[in-house]
Amino acid sequence: MLDRTLSVAPMLDRTDRHQRYFMRLVAPRTLLYTEMVTSGALVHGDVARHLDFHAAERPVALQLGGSDPAELAHCARLAEEWGYDEVNLNVGCPSDRVQNGRFGACLMAEPELVAECVTAMQETTALPVTVKHRIGIDHTDDYPHMRDFVARVARAGCTTFIVHARKAWLQGLSPRENREKPPLRHAEIHRLKRDFPQLEILTNGGLSTVDHMAEQLAHVDGVMVGRAAYQDPWLMAEAERRLLGAHPDLLDRRQVAEHYLAYVEAELAQGARLQALTRHILGLFQGLPGARAWRRHLSENAPRPGADADVLRQALAKVAPSLETAD
Ligand SMILES: Cc1cc2nc3c(=O)[nH]c(=O)nc-3n(C[C@H](O)[C@H](O)[C@H](O)COP(=O)(O)O)c2cc1C
Repeated sequence: MLDRTLSVAPMLDRTDRHQRYFMRLVAPRTLLYTEMVTSGALVHGDVARHLDFHAAERPVALQLGGSDPAELAHCARLAEEWGYDEVNLNVGCPSDRVQNGRFGACLMAEPELVAECVTAMQETTALPVTVKHRIGIDHTDDYPHMRDFVARVARAGCTTFIVHARKAWLQGLSPRENREKPPLRHAEIHRLKRDFPQLEILTNGGLSTVDHMAEQLAHVDGVMVGRAAYQDPWLMAEAERRLLGAHPDLLDRRQVAEHYLAYVEAELAQGARLQALTRHILGLFQGLPGARAWRRHLSENAPRPGADADVLRQALAKVAPSLETAD
């Protein structure tokens, strides 16, 4: 059984394998998600480029975007072959590109099709198949609609639902605005959990402190954190410590940076660019002395041609040695 009490949300252009390796050092028990990968990209594109990851990142869920049951079934099988721990279907993304492909948030209007997709995926993999969705879309955003959507997809065999606690407007708002403008409605997700106590219900959206997470966990089975975990990764270490208790693998921030340095050296030797590795770790020391110098040194020097792991070593030297007493 995967522990989904805490997870970091799928984020395009953010939660790539380097970010996940780093988050795993920060938070050993938090479930990590890939960026959304479209079923088309796996059927027609470079599978290894999309699916390769480091075993140390596990547990990791692969998030898929698509609405063709046969394609999704094929992708779910690939997920299992590649060693992922969960397959998640995106029913929350409102971008135009995704709508044109008839997947993402617009699928909330097609519970039958989502149910078919879930069934097809479950037939090809033993991995848990989960769904991440919104409260609703456009004017179809009252609680009964969401309840009926979940009931239908649950009948197909899905037992875990992750709900972004906002509706999405499919026209007129950009994906970014759709993560900010529609108000948060966590109470309706609490109601969902009361109506379906047998299902695992996770809430997502606007959680930026451990207190927020603790409040939600009184009502639901898990919390998924996106932007706050990316900007201030240590939030997830604190969340683990406070909400899950002590763990032998919990490192301090300097140890995280040192472990990551070894990974960076190995990845650079394989041809990775330093900036692709350091861009995810700028917030590691957020709130501590030296945080700005760390961030500035990395952002200014990592993009330079020929930049190597020394840039990271120098940045680390700029963080006050006594900082861990502040943890
Ligand atoms: C840059 C960015 C990219 C995102 N990409 C995805 C994605 O690929 N799949 C998905 O389901 N949600 C995606 N989201 C939405 C997040 O998973 C999450 O639902 C949303 O940000 C709300 O959570 P938060 O307030 O904790 O950030 C993305 C969000 C951001 C900020």
